[in-house]
Amino acid sequence: MNIETAHLICYSPTRTTFTTIQHIANGMDVPTTQSLDLTLPPGASDAEISIKGGIAIIGVPVYAGRVAPMAAERLKALRGNNTPAIIVVVYGNRHYDQALYELKTLVEASGFVVVAGAALLGEHSFSTPEMPIAEGRPDESDKMAARDFGASVTEKLKHLSDLSALVPLKVPGAFPEGAYAGPRKIVPDWKASLCILCGLCAEHCPTGAITVGKTVTFDASRCTVCCACVKGCPKGAVAFNQPKIHNIAGVLHTNCKTRREPELFL
Ligand SMILES: Cc1cc2nc3c(=O)[nH]c(=O)nc-3n(C[C@H](O)[C@H](O)[C@H](O)COP(=O)(O)O)c2cc1C
Repeated sequence: MNIETAHLICYSPTRTTFTTIQHIANGMDVPTTQSLDLTLPPGASDAEISIKGGIAIIGVPVYAGRVAPMAAERLKALRGNNTPAIIVVVYGNRHYDQALYELKTLVEASGFVVVAGAALLGEHSFSTPEMPIAEGRPDESDKMAARDFGASVTEKLKHLSDLSALVPLKVPGAFPEGAYAGPRKIVPDWKASLCILCGLCAEHCPTGAITVGKTVTFDASRCTVCCACVKGCPKGAVAFNQPKIHNIAGVLHTNCKTRREPELFL
């Protein structure tokens, strides 16, 4: 099978997943790429998105050991039409637990044929200069691993006459049981003295939880604690300082220092 187009599909509030799947696509060396970024709230016309032909590279971040819930929600709009797909979970050096298995299940339910998978590393959303967690990842070594993975998928497909000849892919884990156990209904702290009301936090928010006027307000029922607003604020006016997030970040900073490496499934 020769692949002409790669559809780069991601949900990526702090952009490590976005960067990672771009490197995979670079390694695949396909003539055309098309981007479908599911990070921002969808418009009314995006109720159903049909992907046909080429290959899809579908990347999501891991939240509490599973596919970030908002990503899982937005992936439901996709129709795969038997398009081959590479599935990618990006996580912050704790673990990806059930996320890759869950993503495989969701993507197959949408009509894609999963040909390869990877669990790759990104700076943890809760990482700060004071309490770094996987800071700076994906780094050069991660990017090279992503490119090499892309090249290996191209090579694998070259030797495949068609998708019916594919040996079903196995990835570790099981479909997660129970409700999502990650943090929710928490909003960031906002420092009026530092804020210039530029509105970038609201622009970056994947759930439309932020309103900027003469002041900045956060809707706790919509906030997913993704930290896009924190990392996107040029003035450091937005931060999660509450004990709950601060304590989680502290535990991760202490316990997740050993570098985890990319895991590839081909
Ligand atoms: C609410 C939340 C929960 C997270 N849970 C995990 C986790 O279980 N394991 C892990 O290693 N990283 C976890 N992370 C870190 C993200 O997976 C990681 O930072 C990822 O690179 C973010 O992707 P993005 O840059 O595309 O948003 C979590 C991040 C957030 C915001």
